[in-house]
Amino acid sequence: MPSAVFPGASQPESPAPLVERLGSPALPSPLQEVVDAPFARRGVRLFLKRDDLVHPEIAGNKWRKLVPSLAGLAPGQTLVTFGGAWSSHLRATAAAGRLLGVPTVGLVRGDELATRPLNPALERCHADGMRLHFVDRSRYRSKRDPETLRSLLREAGAVRPYLIPEGGSSPAAVRGCAELGRELRGRADVVALACGTGGTLAGLAAGLEPGSRALGIPVVKGGFLADEVRSLHSAAFGSAVGSWSLDERFHAGGYGRLPAALDRFALDFEDRHGLPVERLYVAKLLHALTRLAEEDAFPPGTRVAAVITGAPGPGLSSGLRTG
Ligand SMILES: Cc1ncc(COP(=O)(O)O)c(C=O)c1O
Repeated sequence: MPSAVFPGASQPESPAPLVERLGSPALPSPLQEVVDAPFARRGVRLFLKRDDLVHPEIAGNKWRKLVPSLAGLAPGQTLVTFGGAWSSHLRATAAAGRLLGVPTVGLVRGDELATRPLNPALERCHADGMRLHFVDRSRYRSKRDPETLRSLLREAGAVRPYLIPEGGSSPAAVRGCAELGRELRGRADVVALACGTGGTLAGLAAGLEPGSRALGIPVVKGGFLADEVRSLHSAAFGSAVGSWSLDERFHAGGYGRLPAALDRFALDFEDRHGLPVERLYVAKLLHALTRLAEEDAFPPGTRVAAVITGAPGPGLSSGLRTG
């Protein structure tokens, strides 16, 4: 599916009335300094950018991505999006649909899920009124193909579909995430976050001031994200923008994997700092930054901001694969 069909590729954004209907976000999100031994020992300052506090149901990067993406939604349209069984983007879209009184359809990866009880994340989507349509993995992979997409939408009974891409990373969403970078101007030298589709990183890098850099920690294996970020930049801004890099070493086995040692690390961080640590993304980010500090990757005096892109979701840790 060409990115031009996604919201924000051409139309102007006017999210103000939407914001009122969704409830006011806590923006700019707080920036909290924490004293953490591996950083403090090296004279590195660690800050938490608490995007998890932005909205009770559409938290973190979900607010920054979803609200600008919804600006072109017309009366009578159905919000349609894509995600895996534990997708917090699906959950946020379902919640937005409920709050706006707009029907939602979720195309969910894995037709084997159709015959199983819903997991707590999908149960939440269902409770918010989202119609779930389970798609076999090979067709799900081909969802950008216009013919496949048309037939998926027909099967799902999506009337007048308004499409939001997987992970919510439309051009409008990427531009929305630039505000995250602008909020951090003058306050951090390195801003790090966990990446799934790369949309939040692409926007963040565009909003930071010259001299600061964005560091992405992919939670998925595959090494394809750099290309994704480059194409998101060209779709959203028409060219490459900002200073950014990826460190591909910290996916811990791939998406949805939570080795016992990483879970212990997250529990320990929660204990020390009172931060609820979301396990699919945020745990991998905080672990990566700790390792980087131990490798002396940040010179003394560096201000490192970790973007807390989400809060723990319903029943998640029980569904993650360990090892
Ligand atoms: C908590 C959390 N952090 C980070 C991300 C990654 O964002 P992106 O897909 O823009 O890379 C996601 C996925 O949307 C997420 O749910």
